[in-house]
Amino acid sequence: MAKPPLSMKPTGWFQVAWCDEIGVGDVHRMKYFGQEMVAWRAESGELTVMDAYCEHLGAHLGYGGKVVGEVLQCPFHGWQWSREGRNVCIPYQDRPNRGRRIRTYPVVERNESVYIWHDLERREPYFEAPDVFAAFNDGSRAADYHPQQRLYRPSLELHPQYVLENGVDFAHFKFVHQTPIAPVFTRHDFGDAVSFVDFTITFEGDDGQRIEDVKSGVQAVNGGLGIAVTKSWGMVDNRTVSAVTPVDDHTSDVRFMVYIGRAPGKDPARAERRAAEFGREVIRQFEQDIEIWQHQRYSDPPALAADEYEGFTAIRAWARQFYPEAFASQGGSMQ
Ligand code: FES
Ligand SMILES: [Fe+2]
Repeated sequence: MAKPPLSMKPTGWFQVAWCDEIGVGDVHRMKYFGQEMVAWRAESGELTVMDAYCEHLGAHLGYGGKVVGEVLQCPFHGWQWSREGRNVCIPYQDRPNRGRRIRTYPVVERNESVYIWHDLERREPYFEAPDVFAAFNDGSRAADYHPQQRLYRPSLELHPQYVLENGVDFAHFKFVHQTPIAPVFTRHDFGDAVSFVDFTITFEGDDGQRIEDVKSGVQAVNGGLGIAVTKSWGMVDNRTVSAVTPVDDHTSDVRFMVYIGRAPGKDPARAERRAAEFGREVIRQFEQDIEIWQHQRYSDPPALAADEYEGFTAIRAWARQFYPEAFASQGGSMQ
C-alpha cells in the first residue's frame, strides 16, 4: 500500500451516498475530500449537501442539527440555514446574518446515487454525471432491470484513477478475471471530460478461440474520474456503475452497483434468484480488481509493453485535466 501520488482533490462528480440512506428530515454525516459534510433532506424532498460546520460558532450540524421545513437548524443556538447555505434566521435577533454562508455543493440524484460536484476552483459543473441507462441512448430504463445490487467498500487506500485505468488494461483480464483470452479494445475516445471505452470480451470457452470470433462485449462511459457506467452486450444483460470518491489524502470510498436485465419468463421468483446470483458474480469480479487496487503502488512512469503504450498514455493524459494545477503539471512523465 502507498499514498497515491495523484491529487486526492480532483474535479468532477463523485458519489457520496445512496439516495435511500437519506430520508425526508434526515441529516446524514460524511467526510469527503478532507471536509466534514452533511447531507439533509428537506420536507419537500430536496436534498442539500453542505460543509458540516455552522458559521456562527462552529457546531457540527451532523450532531443534533434538525430539518425544519426547508431549512437546517443548528443544535447549538438555533440559527437556521437555507438550501443555499444562507443564514435565514437567528432566533434571538430580528434579522439574519446575510453575509455568512456555508459552502454547498451542486448535487444530483441519479440511478439511486447521490453525486456531488467537487471543484477546488468552485466552477459550476461543466459536464454531466452519466446515467447508467440514458448514457447508451438505447431507450432502456430502470424498469427493464431487476433491483440494483450493491457493494460498498469504505476507506480503501486507492485512487479513482486506478479504477479507470482498467479501461485500457487488456492484459489484466486473463489474470485477475480468468477470461480465457485477452479482450480487445475497439474504441478509446478520450477527447472530452466524458470519455468512452468499448471492448470485445468473453468469459466463456477456452484459450483456443480467436477474439475476432467473439460476439460479446462491454461499452463504458466515464464521467470524469469519479463515475463509470457500463453496458454489456452478447452476454447476460447487465449494467454497472462504479464510483470512487476520495475521503482524505490517503483513502477513497468505493461503491459498485449492478443491474441485471429482466428477461421474459414464466417463473418470476426463479428469475429473481438467477438475477441475484448473476449480480453477485459481477460484484465478485469487481472485488477481484479491488484486491489489486487497494494494495497497488501507482507506477509513474510505468514499465509498459509495446501494446499498452497508446492506451495508458491516452488515459493518463486525459486524467490530468481533472487535477489541480500543481499535480497536473508534474504528471505525465511517461514520454
Ligand atoms: S454554532 Fe450554530 S447556532 Fe451557534
Ligand atoms: Fe478489472
